Amino acid sequence: RQASLLQGKHVLITAGPTQEKIDPVRFLTNHSSGKMGYQLATVAAELGANVTLVSGPVQLETPGGVTRVDVVSAKEMYEVVTSRYDEADIVIKTAAVSDYTPKVTYDQKLKKQTKPLALDMVRTKDILKTLGDQKTNQYLVGFAAETEDVVAYGKEKLINKQLDMVVINDVSKPNQGFHADTNAVTIVTKTGQEHTLPLQTKRAVAKEILRIITEEVDQA
Ligand code: PMT
Repeated sequence: RQASLLQGKHVLITAGPTQEKIDPVRFLTNHSSGKMGYQLATVAAELGANVTLVSGPVQLETPGGVTRVDVVSAKEMYEVVTSRYDEADIVIKTAAVSDYTPKVTYDQKLKKQTKPLALDMVRTKDILKTLGDQKTNQYLVGFAAETEDVVAYGKEKLINKQLDMVVINDVSKPNQGFHADTNAVTIVTKTGQEHTLPLQTKRAVAKEILRIITEEVDQA
């Protein structure tokens, strides 16, 4: 039964960073490797789900049985994710989406100047918040990457973005959060469950996240 727990379910997962272009040779990004989101996609596929993985630029192989859609910028990720939202039963937003993008993108390489350079930045659209606002019957999971008061800030995201679950990680500690093969998280659900998982492989964290999601979806 284990292998068919998510049979027939459409699971939409985002992973990796976004890149925000400045000019043909420069961009703004973050340290996300994609490992956490790719493990979630791997385990969801093993549980029989129909998985779409919307991925920022990463150096990882596409997990077996998973449909991967590559994107670069926050804007592209917004477009792909919102256009596939209707068909999704479960959405897990692991990607580290840039909150800002350069106001102007230069077609030619920016030349060095003697004076300091200031870059005007504008906010990107909050994909997760949009999904929360437009939710019909999807089970919506957000991540929260925090460096202080991690659980309190994470719980604010659960409420403000109308999530069913938030997975909170403290990204200020070694061997967890960005890039590591391991993670330690607190999972909080809208139904009031709270699970704190000690440091373990991202695959084990992914299994636990999907176990709790499956339970909650079954009970709904
Ligand atoms: O990729 P790895 O190296 O394995 O690292 C994993 C991870 C640290 C990236 C992952 O575990 C994680 O915490 N992902 C969320 C990172 C993040 O952007 O957190 P945030 O607190 O800034 O954003 C909160 C949520 O809003 C996230 O689900 C994010 O996908 C979403 N968001 C943010 C901004 C935006 N414009 N649109 C969004 O949808």
